[in-house]
Order: sequence, then structure tokens, then C-alpha cells
Amino acid sequence: MRQLIAGNWKMNGSFAALAAYAGGLKAGLARVSAVDLLVCPPDPLVRPLIDMLASESVAVGAQNCAEKRAGAHTGDVSADLLAELGASHVILGHSERRMDHHETNAQVRAKAEAAIGAGLIPIICVGESSAERSQGEAVTVVRAQLAGSVPEGFTGVIAYEPIWAIGTGKVPTEDEITQIHEAIRTALVRQLGEAGAGMRILYGGSVKPDNAQAILALPDVGGALVGGASLKAEDFLAIAAAAAGG
Ligand code: PGA
Repeated sequence: MRQLIAGNWKMNGSFAALAAYAGGLKAGLARVSAVDLLVCPPDPLVRPLIDMLASESVAVGAQNCAEKRAGAHTGDVSADLLAELGASHVILGHSERRMDHHETNAQVRAKAEAAIGAGLIPIICVGESSAERSQGEAVTVVRAQLAGSVPEGFTGVIAYEPIWAIGTGKVPTEDEITQIHEAIRTALVRQLGEAGAGMRILYGGSVKPDNAQAILALPDVGGALVGGASLKAEDFLAIAAAAAGG
């Protein structure tokens, strides 16, 4: 399966800088034809970015959606509206949302159901804290997150993002990534059957141009979820080129 390289801009980016980013991306796309590319900017930039990338093979997604499909939920954005704007994917259950907004597994699961109902592809994030890893709990924590966050009949993508690797420059060893991806695969097959066997499992956490090739070559790494390094088109393209084996 083609690898998916997804950029998570978090609360970064601006309308003023968007055209330069889109231009930079378009200029380098020929180098990365063998991968799927996705950029997830803040919601207000979703539609403008789609328009700027028009007809280019880069998907644009969001970083969150509401659990409910519509109604009296001030400040929330529905999956249906994101889909109407042209978003293809939505990142759900990122550790920053689990922490900053106290999102529970049950809420992440409800959001995933809303997203699928609206025709979006959810990217459900799981990952352990540094304390959990040092207590030998990484696999247990991730399994529990999958059991609680992934709805029945789920179709989408899973991202393994150890919290201690996000934005820190620290990356798990190749063995650690392989071990968790294997555990995630086993859990997905148990939960979802055949669909779980073919599901992409992304790695996220301090993926950079200089470590991308090694990470993306690991067994059962179906791509990367890239934070900081996705903010520069050049770095994002370099990571995508590593996925393509370039
Ligand atoms: P990072 O973030 O690449 O900046 O570590 C990854 C993420 O949080 O998705």
C-alpha cells in the first residue's frame, strides 16, 4: 500500500503565508509521486488551501471535528461542514486534544463515527506518555486507547504517536516502533477483522527529513504524521520523498 504522509499544522500557519506554502508544495510534487500526501491546517485554511492546490494530488484535512452532526454546540465544527469544504481526512484524538480538552476515548470514538458518517477518513491517534513507557505500560495503554476510541466497523487510519516524542526531537528506537506497530496491528485485526489487517498505521513524533527514511522503512509503518516539519513545504516534501524511497 502507498504510504500516507500527513502534515499536522496544529495551531500554526496563516492565510498570508498560505500561497507561498502551496506554491512550494506544488513545485516539488514531481519528486513524491509514489506516496499519498495530506496537509491538515487549522479549519479556516482548509478551503483556501484546497483552492490554491487545485487539481494537485495533495489532500487537505482537518485536526478535529465535533461528536454531534449539527445543532446547538457553540464553537464546534461538524464533520459534515468539513466534508462540504472539501476536507478528506480528520485527525482525531491527538494527545494535545486528549490533554488540553480532556477528550476521552468515548468522545474520540463518537467523533470517528460522525466523521465516517460525513464521508471523512478519520486518523485516530494513540500513544503513551513517558511515565507509562518507563513503567513498561506502552503496549497496554495503546491497546486500551484502541479498544475505547476505534468504533465498530471503523474504516480509516491509525497514528501511533508516543507523547514523549511529539515536538521533542526524541524518537523511539526502531525496535520500539516495530513492537508497538505489531501490537496495534494485532489489536486492529482482533477488533475489526479483515479491515484491521489492511489498515494504515502511521508513526508520528519528531519525524524529520533526516530520520524519515529509517522510520518509513520499518515493517508495518504505513506512513507518518508530521507536526513541526510539515510547516515548511521543503521539509515536508523531503519526508515524502523518503517515503517514496527517493
Ligand atoms: P512533531 O508532531 O512532528 O512536531 O513531533 C507530531 C504530531 O503531534 O502530530
